Order: sequence, then structure tokens, then C-alpha cells
Amino acid sequence: MTAHRLRPDCRICAGTSLVRFLDLGKQPLANAFTSPARAAPEERYPLAVYVCEQCWHVQLLDVVAKETLFAEYSYMSTTSQTIPAHFAALAREVEAAYLAPDDLVVEIGSNDGVLLRAFQGRPYRILGVEPASNIAKIAQERGVPTLNAFFHPATAAQVAAEHGRAKVVLANNVVGHIDDLPGLAAGVRALLRDDGAFVFEVPYLVDLLDKLEFDTVYHEHLSYFAIRPLQRLLGAAGLEIVDVTRQGVHGGTIRVHARPHGTQPVHARVGELVALERGRALDSLRPYHEFAAKVEALRADLVRTVRGLRAQGKRIAGYGAPAKGNTLLNYCGFGPADIEFIQDTTPLKQGRLAPGTRIPVVPPEHFRANPPDVAFMLAWNYEAEILAKESKFREAGGRFLIPIPSPRLV
Ligand code: TYD
Ligand code: ZN
Repeated sequence: MTAHRLRPDCRICAGTSLVRFLDLGKQPLANAFTSPARAAPEERYPLAVYVCEQCWHVQLLDVVAKETLFAEYSYMSTTSQTIPAHFAALAREVEAAYLAPDDLVVEIGSNDGVLLRAFQGRPYRILGVEPASNIAKIAQERGVPTLNAFFHPATAAQVAAEHGRAKVVLANNVVGHIDDLPGLAAGVRALLRDDGAFVFEVPYLVDLLDKLEFDTVYHEHLSYFAIRPLQRLLGAAGLEIVDVTRQGVHGGTIRVHARPHGTQPVHARVGELVALERGRALDSLRPYHEFAAKVEALRADLVRTVRGLRAQGKRIAGYGAPAKGNTLLNYCGFGPADIEFIQDTTPLKQGRLAPGTRIPVVPPEHFRANPPDVAFMLAWNYEAEILAKESKFREAGGRFLIPIPSPRLV
């Protein structure tokens, strides 16, 4: 039995008035693709989303041990074209804003090194910190120096002692995975030079609520960020958000630039997003309860759509086996009778079963040899890339089912 605990307090302000507004039931770990040889059902843990009534941070309180979630990992950043292109643009932005020759760039949760590779061949020193040993090894093989460790204040101290302090600390889609947020913020501040910058991206709560991206909720994603709780978290560690921009990837994220207090004037964009969040009343319970009601209705709609297609004799296969797909499939109660197989380009997932639903994950060749009538686009965050790539499937009469914000056949 994997270690699991229910946190009693908010991971930003330690407040204890937390309201559970969305309950997705007991779910298996979304990246625990299972061997077909395993007979025992996957372990399940409560999956519910809470909001803190003191700082309004949206979060999970059910915490699965990070060693279970991340020591081995099946997510690889490089399995699309969208993400490497996005990271290349981020690297150029960071370079122009902050870097001088010989500066140190450290990335937390550097995965297979895709972002740091965009700094290769440039006159900077780079270092990745990545807890998954299988993924850290891949990054090493690609020539990205990588420390196989979880990031916390002791790691920060070790890196600073060995390499000096960093001009830039990067963290993409990983801040929300970290339970000890004050420890993260303190570690980043200690690692950063006084003229340094912490540049990170996290999915944006406003996008989650607006587009009903309930499937991005799974045990790895402990936090769902808005600007104001982030300001509180970083401010306590001596960091100030000086700029923020909204980005289209992963269903809508924010790219945040934070620097030691007083390093540079705060860009107007920060206040604009704070105003947007005030306008949405994110510091009240209403938007969260409304979201939960819409998610319930969306589930009914998805179940009706899939069962309706099956009743017409249509064959349905999943397209992409992202973690979020497993939340969606389990929440809707779909199984192999509804979704025949799921095609995914990630070798680590192929030949395995999707956790909970036990739908087989197959390589793209299988999809091409046995095209279904309908491809359920579980990886909806790559809609443009996938539609462009699969024009032949659609020309031959195949349709994609896009699940959010409401089921849509294209
Ligand atoms: P992603 O949405 O990035 O991640 P998460 O697990 O955080 O929800 O995962 C996308 C998955 O879709 C990944 O397993 C690769 C797969 N994929 C394909 O199979 N084909 C494609 O053309 C693309 C773009 C992704
Ligand atoms: Zn709080």
C-alpha cells in the first residue's frame, strides 16, 4: 500500500478552513499505466479539489507519496511538436531578458531535458534537477547535466555549493506537483542570485474553470494556481511577481517571472490578471460551486455521447493517453466496451493498460491499421497538432470527439 495522507491545512497559508467543491471519487494514479500481467486492480485514492477560504488557493489535500508518483515516470515532454517549439521560444525570452555568458541556469523538474537543450550551444552553464531516475538518465544521454533529485531547500543548498548561485531558475509544469510550496519558494530564493529571476509556468486556474478542464485534476497536480495565492507564496520567500503572460499550451498556462523584491518594476500585466481574478470573484465560493455543477453536467453529456455512438455501432478509440485522459475515463466510468484501445506515441505507455479502465494502450501503427469511426481526443491540448497530423483519417470519414468544454465531433 502506497503512502497517502490527507493534509489538514492549506499548502500556501496553512489555513484550515478548506472547502471541498469537486469530488471526482476514488481514482487510480493517472500515470500508473499497468502491465497486462497484473491481476490485482490498481490502488485508488480519493480525488477531490478544495479551496482555502483564507488565501483562496485551489488544491488537493489527498497527497500520495512523491516517491510513488515520480521516482519512475511515464510522462515525457518531448512526445509532441508543440512543446519543444514552446520551450524554444521560452528559452529565447529568458536569454534576452536575463542571461550573460557563464551564467548558471537551473531547471527544476527538467524531465528529458527538452527545455535545457534549447540553451545548448549557448555560452551558459545548465543544470537540470529531475527526480525520475528513468527520465533523468535520458536527459543525461542527451548531454543535459542532470541531478537526479527532488528539489527542496537541501537540494538548492547543494547546487549552490557545487555550482554557485543561479541567474535563472526555471520550472515548467512542476510547481503544482510540489506539496511543500513554502520549501520550494525558500529553496528557489536561496539558489537565486540577488539579480536573478525565477521563471515558471503553471496551468492557470481561470482557464481550468472557463474551459471545464476537470480532467487536468489528478493526484500529481496538487495546486491549481491563480496570481494572488502565488503572490502570497512567493512574497513570503522574498520574491515578487514582476511579469506574467498567458500561454496557450496545456489548455492555458501562465508564465510567471518572479525576482527578489525591488529588482525591477512590476509590469502592468500582473495587475491586469489580478483584476481579472477579482472580476471572477475567485475569492468567493461561488465560481467553484458553479464549476462543479458544470463538470457533473459535462460528465452526463460525455456518457450520453459515447453510449449513443456505440448504440449506432460506431467503434471508438482513444487518441493520446495523457494522464488527464485517465481522470476523464475513470470519472465517466468508461471501459474497453466503450473505448476499444488508446493510441499513444510514448513507448513507455504502449503495451500497457490505462489505469482503472484497463483499456489497452497501443502504438500509432495499430490505430492506422485499425482506424476506428471515432477517435476520442483525450490529448485535447494538442488539438491543432493532431488534426493537422491526422488529416487522412478524417478524409477517410473518421471523426474526432473533443471532450471539453462540451463534446464536439469534428
Ligand atoms: P499531455 O497532454 O502532454 O500530458 P498529461 O499527461 O500531463 O495530461 O500528454 C499527451 C499524450 O498524448 C502523451 O502521452 C503523448 C500523446 N500524443 C500522441 O499519442 N499523439 C500525438 O500526436 C500527440 C501530440 C500526443
Ligand atoms: Zn490558504
